[in-house]
Amino acid sequence: MSLTRRAFIQRGGILTAALALPQAAQPPAPKFRTNLQASSLAPFVDALPIPEVVHPIDHHPSPEDSSTKLPYYRIAMRQIESRLHRDLKPTRQWAYGSSCPGPIFEVRSGQGILVEWANELPAQHFLPIDHNIHGAESDKPEVRTVVHLHGAKVRPESDGYPENWFVPGKSAIYHYPNHQEAAMLWYHDHALGINRLNVFAGLMGAYIIRDEFEDSLNLPKGKYEIPLAIYDRILDLESQLNYPVTGDPKAPWVPEVFGDCFLVNGKIFPYLEVEARQYRFRVLNGANGRFFHLSLSNNQSFHQIGTDLGLLPAPVDVKRLTLAPAERADLVIDFSGSAGEQIVLKNDLAFNVMQFRVGKKTASGAGALPAALRPLTKISESSALKTRMLTLVEVDDLYKRPVHMLLNNTHWNMAVTENPVLDSTEIWNLINTTDDSHPIHLHAVRFQILDRRSFDIAAFWTQKKFVYFGPPISPDPSEAGWKDTVRAEPGMITRIIIRFEGYPGRYVWHCHVLEHEDNEMMRPYEIITASG
Ligand code: C2O
Ligand code: CU
Repeated sequence: MSLTRRAFIQRGGILTAALALPQAAQPPAPKFRTNLQASSLAPFVDALPIPEVVHPIDHHPSPEDSSTKLPYYRIAMRQIESRLHRDLKPTRQWAYGSSCPGPIFEVRSGQGILVEWANELPAQHFLPIDHNIHGAESDKPEVRTVVHLHGAKVRPESDGYPENWFVPGKSAIYHYPNHQEAAMLWYHDHALGINRLNVFAGLMGAYIIRDEFEDSLNLPKGKYEIPLAIYDRILDLESQLNYPVTGDPKAPWVPEVFGDCFLVNGKIFPYLEVEARQYRFRVLNGANGRFFHLSLSNNQSFHQIGTDLGLLPAPVDVKRLTLAPAERADLVIDFSGSAGEQIVLKNDLAFNVMQFRVGKKTASGAGALPAALRPLTKISESSALKTRMLTLVEVDDLYKRPVHMLLNNTHWNMAVTENPVLDSTEIWNLINTTDDSHPIHLHAVRFQILDRRSFDIAAFWTQKKFVYFGPPISPDPSEAGWKDTVRAEPGMITRIIIRFEGYPGRYVWHCHVLEHEDNEMMRPYEIITASG
């Protein structure tokens, strides 16, 4: 057993199977790590942190036109310690810059930037790597990072292809042209085989694109516009991140991770003091695998004004907002009728996420929410050049434990099978034969949800045909805008329509439950030019 392997077993909290190893290979008895109970923590004692806005350090020539200079940013990934809650010890995390989540990018549509992403992390990982997972074999460096700007239309070389990872001491300079509409994107790690661990360690941040159309709507801004990155974590009694493992030290990968500590912008159950007026919240589900179902304790609605990739055609009132990992919602909450109240943002109606403490009525309340936002043209189905049938499959083979999920029954290493033509439109049928909802994300493009329809899974496998239960169901108004991630619901065919605009080259599509993504639920795809 290598030293490295031993080290992570000691840190990983593996119990039973470690004891069953042959004598010679037996590691020192692992330290038992009991999880902290989130319910033991006093809620709403820490103010909600707001990550700072990052500024360029220089200007460098544009890769597209050397006569233009673009703002140049540098973000170093570093190990930090920060307190997640007043009553906890500092927690070791991996940060972009000096906070988790990292600093916020504020950019304008059409104005490109360059970012140097520098890996200044330690040489050893502090979370349990599974070397059976492809791309994370024991001959690979433990600490590898690559940054993906989720939702961005960028050239492949700046997209953070999972195999383009770099090790501590190295960096990559990416060009983000920002030729797209106002939206909140997010950046996060994407290193092959350990992505789930790097993001769990803290490698994520928000990236906001603005444009003139959005400016003209006079939405709440400045201190009245607040990003909320929501995610769950498991902590041990030493306040350290405790990424779960199986009992088998040779195969620690687990299919899903759910923590009971809910963090918003890096604090557990924080509070935010607000004025009795309208606020705009840019909400991100940054969890590895948890779907959030958010509501307000006073039963008030959210006014949802945008989806993953921009503004909806009109505000939609939502009482219970579902957000799968990687989905975003642009919300306006009106506190003007709640002066002096305390309102709790809840998950699943019962669990605290954060608290809003509403102050006195202010004279300068924001104006009314516009009745119309950004017009949305529906992509017509008849414009699709191609329709693809793509299965989501769970492989539960006794001889190939553990269970894992595949896209279209293909593995990461197999040849590209999805190769849309640049500037063409396609319809993808996501045929979910599993028992779980999988948030499916395509890099580089935006799409619209057409519908979802229940089908008979058994008939599909045995007779290779579709027997439907009922008619197709339209997307919820809250997801009827531009999307980059869609919930492919179990036992349903989810149809999306995609315009492959942007740049030719190799990208990926995958499930955004990071445990699934790391273990084969990710595929390369290639945008090809019409002639090629
Ligand atoms: Cu948010 Cu491929 O990722
Ligand atoms: Cu999945």
